[in-house]
Amino acid sequence: MKFPFAKPFFNDDEEFSSIKEVYDSGIFVHGKKTEDFERSFKDFTGAISASSVSNCTAGLHLAHHMLSFDRKGKVICPAMTHVATANAIVLSGNTPVFVDCEIATGNIDLDLVSEIVDDSFVGMTLVHFNGSPCNMEKVMDIVNSNNLYLVEDCALAVGAKYDGKHVGLFGDYGCFSFHPAKQLCTGEGGMVISRHGTQVDLDLIKAFGVDRSFLNRSLPGQYDVTSIGFNYRMPELPAALGIEQMNKADNILSAREANYQTYLQFPELKARALIQPDGSSRYSFIMILDSNSQRIALQDILKSNEIGSSVYYPNPVSEFSAYKKLNFQKTSIDNASIIANQSIALPVGPHLSVDNINIIGNIISHFLQS
Ligand SMILES: Cc1ncc(COP(=O)(O)O)c(C=O)c1O
Repeated sequence: MKFPFAKPFFNDDEEFSSIKEVYDSGIFVHGKKTEDFERSFKDFTGAISASSVSNCTAGLHLAHHMLSFDRKGKVICPAMTHVATANAIVLSGNTPVFVDCEIATGNIDLDLVSEIVDDSFVGMTLVHFNGSPCNMEKVMDIVNSNNLYLVEDCALAVGAKYDGKHVGLFGDYGCFSFHPAKQLCTGEGGMVISRHGTQVDLDLIKAFGVDRSFLNRSLPGQYDVTSIGFNYRMPELPAALGIEQMNKADNILSAREANYQTYLQFPELKARALIQPDGSSRYSFIMILDSNSQRIALQDILKSNEIGSSVYYPNPVSEFSAYKKLNFQKTSIDNASIIANQSIALPVGPHLSVDNINIIGNIISHFLQS
């Protein structure tokens, strides 16, 4: 593929040396790399605390598990998101209620949320769709006036800000992904940040509920289990990649911005683009086509020109077979269905230059005018 949809932005020397240090040290868990990565992510986002996890899904599950430990119930969930957003609700013993998205941005429709929320709801989760920050002022009004917990799914949103504040810092927890297609890559990996001052409980539950990490035991076997927990820790090898990725974060985000702005120079593309509000971290350039068959035709053309594309997301979550069977409550999902059936996501990552984007833009523009 000449122009892949995504490619980790690694430098042979930096990422490789960092991995080699772990290899040479023989310390693969409970090491300094995860601590350094957490510190760096905390500084980058402005969080009070950051806790590394094995992936974003693990972080989301942890977050819902902890926030609903004493009180389960309905949780507002966007219909247009990755299935992980909803799985975390179900796996923590809660009940998702699916809400449609705005057609302009793909973010959850907050007017619909206000219409359905009542005291049977214990929480809300949202996704900053494609790296576009949700309207957090409205979200916090809903959350505060209905006494809901809030989990922000920031899987595609490293670098995204609302009103100057990094996303993930508004809710109780914000969960990030470092899967290879994301802004920063650790192979698999995730981070949970919080507006709360301490993550002691989260750190405990992500590591079996054991009260003392390996490093804090004076003698082998000296620990107690004070809670029942998971094993969702991030190992040292991905953390070693994460540290190097943090050093590149600003450059990665500005390359994404330049590529996104280049697509906007093509009027046919701009006319079909989802709006990405200020502060978006430009995960991809998403357009809505006239029909599903037009999307298939464009996908074919892109494939034959070795241009990668993707679909975010191929179904409203409620329409996947497993969720259909469970038949959770939902609003109308008309907008989510349009995005699922007619949208296409184009690459903006730093593995592509502005010249590359001009080539891709010209091919698509020609297709749309034919
Ligand atoms: C919105 C959203 N949430 C969660 C995830 C899952 O992230 P991870 O693969 O790190 O578990 C994804 C993956 O693409 C996603 O798009």
